[in-house]
Amino acid sequence: MVLQETVAIVTGSSEGIGQAIAERLAKEGTRIVIDYHTHADGAEKTQRLVEAAGSKAIVVKADLGSVTAIQSLVANGIKAFGKIDILVNNAGIEKRADCWDVTEQDYDAVLNVNLKGVFFATQTVVRHLMQTKRPGKIINISSVHEELPFPHFAPYCMSKGGVKMMTRDLAIELAPFGITVNSIAPGAIETPINRALLNDPAKLRGLMGNIPLRRLGKPSDVADAVVFLASTGADYITGTTLFVDGGLLWNYHEQ
Ligand code: BGC
Repeated sequence: MVLQETVAIVTGSSEGIGQAIAERLAKEGTRIVIDYHTHADGAEKTQRLVEAAGSKAIVVKADLGSVTAIQSLVANGIKAFGKIDILVNNAGIEKRADCWDVTEQDYDAVLNVNLKGVFFATQTVVRHLMQTKRPGKIINISSVHEELPFPHFAPYCMSKGGVKMMTRDLAIELAPFGITVNSIAPGAIETPINRALLNDPAKLRGLMGNIPLRRLGKPSDVADAVVFLASTGADYITGTTLFVDGGLLWNYHEQ
């Protein structure tokens, strides 16, 4: 176990990548604050997985688009476990639309969770770390689309591009306090966020052709990278993005 005695908040951990991260961190001895917005059943399942892994968890419902909700999420975690060491900003949403059809409501929903929520969750945890004079690890789950265009998902790409710059900027500002900030950029991972694509054989074949390692990623592929960035083995890494994408980002070849 490489993370014994640590406490992590994992946002959006009621399903998909977040659930796998919570379970994987638990196996390393981390106690988990499970955050969810919609899927209470999923959050309870995550709690059972964490307990089966030999650790402890609490479940908190929070709307990450609201700063007061974020502050109470962090306060709940501190109340339950006495401190926070690791923040995994995993929660994210995407909505497909041609750019000329994107509604203000969908634009705000995506940017609020994927960008504003990441910033204020980080700010709140950073204040706690500074008050308690302790180092910490902020790990943002970004996407290959922090670099790569994803037509028909403009607000999503814009949010991930913002996360990329947030990671760089805060890494520099927080380095003097021993707080590192990094991102993990998954490619195509089998999760509920891309259920529509996974259920469309033609689209799936097209996507597979873009992945040099010729398989979709598993949530556990991302979770393993989180454990590394959260561990002391990554103490000298800050301000960077680790791509977990089977080679998708830089794939180009002529047929
Ligand atoms: C998106 C998925 C998409 C994948 C690869 C992810 O960031 O959430 O919907 O399939 O990137 O394009």
